Amino acid sequence: MLGSDLFLKLNMGYEVVGLDKEEIDIVSASECEEAIKEIKPDIVINAAAYTNVDGCETAKDECFAVNAEAIKNIAGACRDKNIRIVHFSTDYVFDGTAKQPYKEDHQCNPINTYGASKMAGERYLRSLSENYILIRTAWLYGVNGKNFVQTILEKVKTTKKLTVVDDQTGSPTYTKDLATAVDLLITQNAKGIFHITNRGNCSWYQFAVKILQEAGIHDIDVTPIRSDKLQRPAKRPAYSVLSMQKFIQTTGKTMQPWQLALQDYLKNNKL
Ligand SMILES: NC(=O)c1ccc[n+]([C@@H]2O[C@H](COP(=O)([O-])OP(=O)(O)OC[C@H]3O[C@@H](n4cnc5c(N)ncnc54)[C@H](OP(=O)(O)O)[C@@H]3O)[C@@H](O)[C@H]2O)c1
Repeated sequence: MLGSDLFLKLNMGYEVVGLDKEEIDIVSASECEEAIKEIKPDIVINAAAYTNVDGCETAKDECFAVNAEAIKNIAGACRDKNIRIVHFSTDYVFDGTAKQPYKEDHQCNPINTYGASKMAGERYLRSLSENYILIRTAWLYGVNGKNFVQTILEKVKTTKKLTVVDDQTGSPTYTKDLATAVDLLITQNAKGIFHITNRGNCSWYQFAVKILQEAGIHDIDVTPIRSDKLQRPAKRPAYSVLSMQKFIQTTGKTMQPWQLALQDYLKNNKL
C-alpha cells in the first residue's frame, strides 16, 4: 500500500526501481546483497513488512523474520557503501498509556508481537546504519491496499448496522500524504527518527462515522464498543497519537488534517 504511493511520488524526481516480493525476499540476506550490488542505489526504501497485526500473534517467526531480521539484511547490505536507508515503523511500538502525543525519544514498550517485531527492526537499523530515516506512522490507508476505509464501505453494502471500537485513539494517515512527507525528508537530507501521520486524532468509531458521512451514506446505525468485546488475538494501544513537532521543525511543513486527507482519498478512489 505505502510502497505503491512512494513509487508514484518519488518517480517524479528520482529514478526509482520498485521491487515486490516476487523480485526480492528481504528475509534472504543474499537477495538483499545481490539487489544492492546490481542496482547500486543511493537510497534504499523499505516499505515491506509483515503487517497482519493479529496474524503476528500466531506467525511469530515469520513476523520477526520480516519485520526484524530482514532489517539486519538490508542494513548490512547498505553498510559498506553508506547507502541511505528509509524504513517504516509504527505507533504500536508504544504501550498506549501516554496522555499526550508520543515524541520520537519516548520509551518503546510494545504490547503485541507486531509492535515487538517492529521495535526489534528499529534496533537493528539504528545499530547497523548511521545513515537512515526511520519513520513511525499509524493507521494507514491508501488506494493500493486493504484498509479500514475500504472495509467500512464494503461492510455497509450488506449491512445497516456496524459496531466499531471507541477506546483506541490514533491518527488515520493517507499513504499519499505520507509519501509526500518522505519525499520532503529525503530532499532535505534529514536523518534520524521522525513521527509522521495526518494531523489530529480520533477513535476508530469516530473515523468510521466520518467515513460514512464523507461517502454520503446516512442510513447506517454505528454503535461504539469497547475493544475487549472483539477479543482479537493482538492487544492494541489505547492511545497512540504521535507528536509531529520534530517533522514540522525539520521541514517547515505540516501534514493536512486527517479529515481532509480522507476527503482526498475518497475523491481519488471511488469505492
Ligand atoms: N498499515 C498500517 O496501518 C501501518 C501502520 C503503521 C506502520 N505501518 C508500516 O508502514 C509500512 C508499510 O505498510 P503497508 O500497510 O503499506 O504494508 P502492506 O500493504 O502490507 O505492504 C507490505 C508489503 O511487504 C511485502 N512483503 C512481505 N514480506 C516480504 C518479504 N519477505 N520480502 C519482500 N516483501 C515482503 C508484502 O507482500 P505480500 O502482501 O505479498 O505478503 C506487501 O506487498 C510497514 O513498515 C508497516 O509496518 C503500517
